[in-house]
Amino acid sequence: MMAVVDELRTLGRASGGRGETLLRERRRADGTVVHELVVNGVFAMDSTETTSERELAGFARAARGAVLVGGLGLGYTAAAVLDRQPGPERVDVVELDPHLVGWARQEVTPLLGRVARDPRTRLHVGDVAAALTGHGPAAGPWDAVLLDVDNGPDFLIHSGNAGLYEDATLAAAQAALTPGGVLALWCQGPAPELLARLHRLDGTAREHRCAVEREGRRFSYVVLTLTRPPVAAPGPGGGGAAR
Ligand SMILES: C[S@@+](CC[C@H](N)C(=O)[O-])C[C@H]1O[C@@H](n2cnc3c(N)ncnc32)[C@H](O)[C@@H]1O
Repeated sequence: MMAVVDELRTLGRASGGRGETLLRERRRADGTVVHELVVNGVFAMDSTETTSERELAGFARAARGAVLVGGLGLGYTAAAVLDRQPGPERVDVVELDPHLVGWARQEVTPLLGRVARDPRTRLHVGDVAAALTGHGPAAGPWDAVLLDVDNGPDFLIHSGNAGLYEDATLAAAQAALTPGGVLALWCQGPAPELLARLHRLDGTAREHRCAVEREGRRFSYVVLTLTRPPVAAPGPGGGGAAR
């Protein structure tokens, strides 16, 4: 009996200083089509189960101004932000890999094409940590900053991303939020050290679990959030807070 194998089609493959990026389409024997993204030898994601990537966008629910999404990936988080009603005026998507941004502009998958075409989207090539610390390629303030660039702080796609989870960058990210804004970080599992760091910046920082089922296995991805406190209302007489 002949084994039935998946049909694989490369949609994009390119190498640069940060390793190879591979975007491919898998057509399964049952006809379902899955998109897969491998970055620098790390399986970044596929389109089989994208609940948590889309739920990450939910943390931008109050955003009406600008939202920062880092990185682009297969576009699920960015598309879910753009789909919100009412949504933000502008979505800055910061992606390290220039080829992935190019493939999005070429609309190699329908979803990447939708994100790239939306007039509210600004696609930027660069390091999201640089954007958060005021060194481009995009500038805040943002009502929400949604980060999904690694599989978590303990499973990096690029070793250079370690700095993103350090106190100084997290503090810069908080400062880049509008008052009441939210920073949300996707993690493949609990990240107690990172949560403790966020807690030092914001006592209300917390962990949210997103239950998923993949290949018959049930487990939870995690989103960590911190907020920038809203501005205190002026006291009577318009000056500082009343005593
Ligand atoms: C797991 S994917 C993001 C998935 C995305 N949330 C989605 O819904 O499709 C991670 C992405 O972050 C990008 N990336 C990794 N490090 C980055 C960095 N420092 N700055 C910007 N993008 C980065 C990767 O190239 C990859 O496209």
